[in-house]
Amino acid sequence: MSEWGGVAGKRVVLTGATNGIGLAAAVELARRGADLTLVARNQARAAEAIRRINAVSTGSSPDVLLADLASQASIRRLADELLAKYPRIQVLVNNAGAIYARRRMTADAIELTWAVNHLAPFLLTALLLDRLKASHPARIVTTSSGAHEGARIPFDDLNAERSWGGAGFTRYGETKLANVLFTAELARRLDGTGVTANAFHPGLVATGFNRNNGVLMRIGMALTRPFARSPQKGAETLIWLVDAEEAGELNGAYVFDRRPFPPSPAAQNTETARQLWRVSEEQVGGSA
Ligand SMILES: NC(=O)c1ccc[n+]([C@@H]2O[C@H](COP(=O)([O-])OP(=O)(O)OC[C@H]3O[C@@H](n4cnc5c(N)ncnc54)[C@H](OP(=O)(O)O)[C@@H]3O)[C@@H](O)[C@H]2O)c1
Repeated sequence: MSEWGGVAGKRVVLTGATNGIGLAAAVELARRGADLTLVARNQARAAEAIRRINAVSTGSSPDVLLADLASQASIRRLADELLAKYPRIQVLVNNAGAIYARRRMTADAIELTWAVNHLAPFLLTALLLDRLKASHPARIVTTSSGAHEGARIPFDDLNAERSWGGAGFTRYGETKLANVLFTAELARRLDGTGVTANAFHPGLVATGFNRNNGVLMRIGMALTRPFARSPQKGAETLIWLVDAEEAGELNGAYVFDRRPFPPSPAAQNTETARQLWRVSEEQVGGSA
């Protein structure tokens, strides 16, 4: 693997950068000289993120591209724009994610949590993969979660019609397991290309997570705050995976606090990872 040399001067595409872990990471990566492209779904929230980033960064102001990651058409438009705009993309961070207490379907007839948390990273990565390979060394980082522990992928019920439960937490865990399995299979496919793929668990972090699910969930999240990390602390492993020379030695790892950590047994099943890849291809129209 050729020398990485840190993130300064490298094009970093980051989803979910308007709040929480992604915003904290964007602030620090900009301070370290990365050329950032923030993917946001809301112009006003993106403008506020840019204001906060520019308050600490002396480099060029980040670019913003708008996309709703719940929509495959929007992801395809985003990828077209990214490919047209940047001859080189050295880092893709799939960080955007959410939990939904009520089951909902997207315009693509996919359950919403699965669409945003798993299929969006799967499709965006696939569409940018040739550019990342051509820009090697390059890195792909996906924000997973310890919530993957105990989950399994319901291959016979991918839209969670029968398996929905726990106010959306069952489904959320499945999507975070999918992040680890996707990363493992992607890493196998990337072996020898100079591009690495790793996933990480940020810990319990005080962010906007689960604040979209009504007053009871907001109270619940407020009660966890005394035990939660700051967004800056939660972003540390993401920043390390993107910036550190030694992180380039990892491929297919699940990382917690800057160390590879064994994910659940279900997350280590190679055949499950291959099966997930196949069904995900079908869910994005087979032309990822
Ligand atoms: N917080 C934790 O304790 C924790 C623990 C483990 C893993 N994680 C993971 O960390 C990641 C970041 O979450 P967070 O805790 O920082 O939560 P957050 O504060 O709610 O931030 C989520 C980010 O994702 C964006 N997003 C959500 N849905 C989107 C969509 N359809 N299209 C485009 N962007 C969308 C949000 O945009 P808006 O600003 O427009 O809402 C926001 O920028 C997620 O993948 C989550 O699963 C969090």
